[in-house]
Amino acid sequence: MNAIVSQIGDLAEAGERMIERLRRKAFLPESRKGLNVRFGIAEAAQLLGCSTNRIRMAEEDGRLPPAPAAENGRRLGYSVPELLNMRQVLGASPARAPLDVPAIIAVQNFKGGVGKSTVTTHLAHYFAVQGYRVLVVDCDSQATTTTLFGFNPHFNITREETLYSYLSIDPTQTDLSYAVKPTPWPNVDLIPSNLELFDVEYELAAAGSDGQSVLAARFRKLKQGLIALAGEYDIVLLDPPPALGTISLAVMQAANALLVPLAATTPDFCSTVQFLSMMDQVLQQLAGAGIEVDYSFVRLICSKFDGNDPSHSMVRAIMEQSFGPALLPVPILESAEISHAAMRMMTVYELDKPIGTSKTHKRCRANLDEAMGQIEQLVRQGWGRVTPADEAVLYASA
Ligand SMILES: Nc1ncnc2c1ncn2[C@@H]1O[C@H](COP(=O)(O)OP(=O)(O)OP(=O)(O)O)[C@@H](O)[C@H]1O
Ligand SMILES: [Mg+2]
Repeated sequence: MNAIVSQIGDLAEAGERMIERLRRKAFLPESRKGLNVRFGIAEAAQLLGCSTNRIRMAEEDGRLPPAPAAENGRRLGYSVPELLNMRQVLGASPARAPLDVPAIIAVQNFKGGVGKSTVTTHLAHYFAVQGYRVLVVDCDSQATTTTLFGFNPHFNITREETLYSYLSIDPTQTDLSYAVKPTPWPNVDLIPSNLELFDVEYELAAAGSDGQSVLAARFRKLKQGLIALAGEYDIVLLDPPPALGTISLAVMQAANALLVPLAATTPDFCSTVQFLSMMDQVLQQLAGAGIEVDYSFVRLICSKFDGNDPSHSMVRAIMEQSFGPALLPVPILESAEISHAAMRMMTVYELDKPIGTSKTHKRCRANLDEAMGQIEQLVRQGWGRVTPADEAVLYASA
């Protein structure tokens, strides 16, 4: 290999060492990521849709453990496990009814960098805070989502822990339970990924003329595997790679809802239109082959919106005109809080204190809650039950 070309390997190695250093720094003292977020009583009550009094009474009569002790004169607030327990005890769990179908949402777009992994991880943690049981499936060999959950895909994850063992041409697993990992969130599990998941794509190319039947078999497999797992969850989130390949196609078919993120820029808009048109063709071909895809909703979400940038407003207007009600009305705002949290391999929902100013943090959190809440509403409509907002009214009057 020529000396200049061999530099590429050196660059990769230097980069890998830096990623591991950053990860260790982010997750000290252990290399495992913790979860330190806490919720004040007012916030907890709001999340549960009840009064603070109801929580205090339950703490007094012993149904709930005593409120967490104060530290330096300030109340510590409730941890995520405490909040979940509170939901159980006070009957405020949003979990679906047994006969409601779990939402299996593909967060998909063939355009790279549109915010798929950012939306997937924030959506997972939003749903977790709301009390749902969530499974996140990292289907992308770039493994951004796996990283955001605190794993180093290169060092902590082997190929056998990814979807590979199940989707490979020579599968060593017959169901997906082997791949499910707990995360620092008690109600969020993860199927991780790493670079070697890409072997699934290579194998198909190598299968030659058998490729079509291998492909069809994999489609069915991922769907079956996920349906079998989904019984344990309310929401399953799929983060596929930004390209049309075997895994992307299998994800398309395995999902029962589609969320397409895109930034308010012309290249994202144009690529997303191409994605939709390609998807339409693929879905028709699949239907022709007897593979039916059934989505309970298809929505686009603007994933990085800067209201101060006139070009963003212009492109958003174009998106509104083109997509009408399929474009979710509340965009995710572009925020330094999101990119700074990503540097720490976290979502904004995992920050126990603001990274930027308190105002920036609050604004970002409020926007994320509102944007993610739109998706929660869609999921709950599919379950044919009252929305959480209605429940809040019910609890308040009870
Ligand atoms: N709302 C936002 N505000 C600020 N930064 C954002 C926002 N959304 C995404 N980003 C940043 O944009 C970059 C790309 O986002 P992300 O990795 O989620 O995209 P992706 O579609 O998953 O990319 P890929 O196609 O490579 O999988 C990341 O650095 C992320 O932190
Ligand atoms: Mg990604």
